[in-house]
Amino acid sequence: MLARNRDAAPAAGEQSQSDAAELLSPDELPADRLGEAALRPRTLHEFVGQGELKGHLDVLLGAARKRREPVDHLLFAGPPGLGKTTLAHIVANELGAHLQTTSGPALERAGDLAAMLTKLEPGDVLFIDEIHRLPRPVEEVLYPAMEDFRIDIVLGKGPAARSIPLDVEPFTLVGATTRTGLITGPLRDRFGLVARLDFYTVDDLISIVERTAGILGVTIDSPGAAEIARRARGTPRIANRLLRQVRDFSDVHRDGGIDARVAADGLAFFGVDEMGLDRASRAVLEALCRNFGGGPVGLSTLAIAVSEPTETVEDVYEPYLIQQGLLMRTPRGRVATAAAWTHLGLEAPGADPESQPGLFT
Ligand SMILES: Nc1ncnc2c1ncn2[C@@H]1O[C@H](COP(=O)(O)OP(=O)(O)O)[C@@H](O)[C@H]1O
Ligand SMILES: [Mg+2]
Repeated sequence: MLARNRDAAPAAGEQSQSDAAELLSPDELPADRLGEAALRPRTLHEFVGQGELKGHLDVLLGAARKRREPVDHLLFAGPPGLGKTTLAHIVANELGAHLQTTSGPALERAGDLAAMLTKLEPGDVLFIDEIHRLPRPVEEVLYPAMEDFRIDIVLGKGPAARSIPLDVEPFTLVGATTRTGLITGPLRDRFGLVARLDFYTVDDLISIVERTAGILGVTIDSPGAAEIARRARGTPRIANRLLRQVRDFSDVHRDGGIDARVAADGLAFFGVDEMGLDRASRAVLEALCRNFGGGPVGLSTLAIAVSEPTETVEDVYEPYLIQQGLLMRTPRGRVATAAAWTHLGLEAPGADPESQPGLFT
């Protein structure tokens, strides 16, 4: 009876799965049963792109292994989805060390961090994601821990307060942040390496798409991979997400394989435009041009116009728009460039040659 039900309704099962997937935000999509973790490169060698950073890490890790010492503390900065968490895992893996993971907002009190630090074993890697969101008193516990592998536990308050020093095992701190500018000077100075991850080239993204397709068992040709890579906004996480969306599109509307045509149709279906802007990043540009005449407009006003937190607009949407020359940050606020107006198919105010007399006369 049970078996017959299962046999009779495979399509129904698949249907409900894709329905559920659509209700989740893209970052939470349960990429089949293979989550993001399954797509993460595990070694530096498998990590695509970021050549200079990889070179530096290779030396640091090699030297530490040779001397059997923990690696210097590392800080990775850059927009979401460029591989910061992946690198933290790789560092631990390459050192054969355990990775302990936490994040700035999760460490509310000094005691939370002290508890984490004191349970570290020699050589462990401690990964603090969103390290710029550590509360200040917690950050202060980190300083002596990073420098001297020591923390001071303060007992009591006022004149009777006593501070008890506690040893911490030698460890490597890996911090990740969306912007280095958000890290305080004293914290920043205690990292041996501060690395910025750049947006990936299309060639690197092609390699990533092909690698992921291999893991997911998707048939894709080079033009198909290139089409997805070109529209992935320089970001591996987005490349992987677009690949899965196009794969789903092809499973339902085509034969399951991906070529350039299927990729273009699938991406159009999911609202990803020629430059790779999705609805959310296009909304930022549209608000800037349509509501505020192209700016300058303050970040918080722009964020309200698109109903997003200011940090999301600043850290998630703007970096790629800036890199593509569509948006500028100026002292007076955000400004749309001529390219932004063109991309949206709108006419920029003052772009009409008749309104600029004297230019060609
Ligand atoms: N250099 C890379 N090569 C291959 N895949 C990558 C690379 N960087 C990131 N990825 C993929 O992108 C996804 C997001 O990376 P992640 O490390 O979580 O980004 P971040 O922590 O910077 O937001 C990972 O699951 C991984 O599969
Ligand atoms: Mg991360």
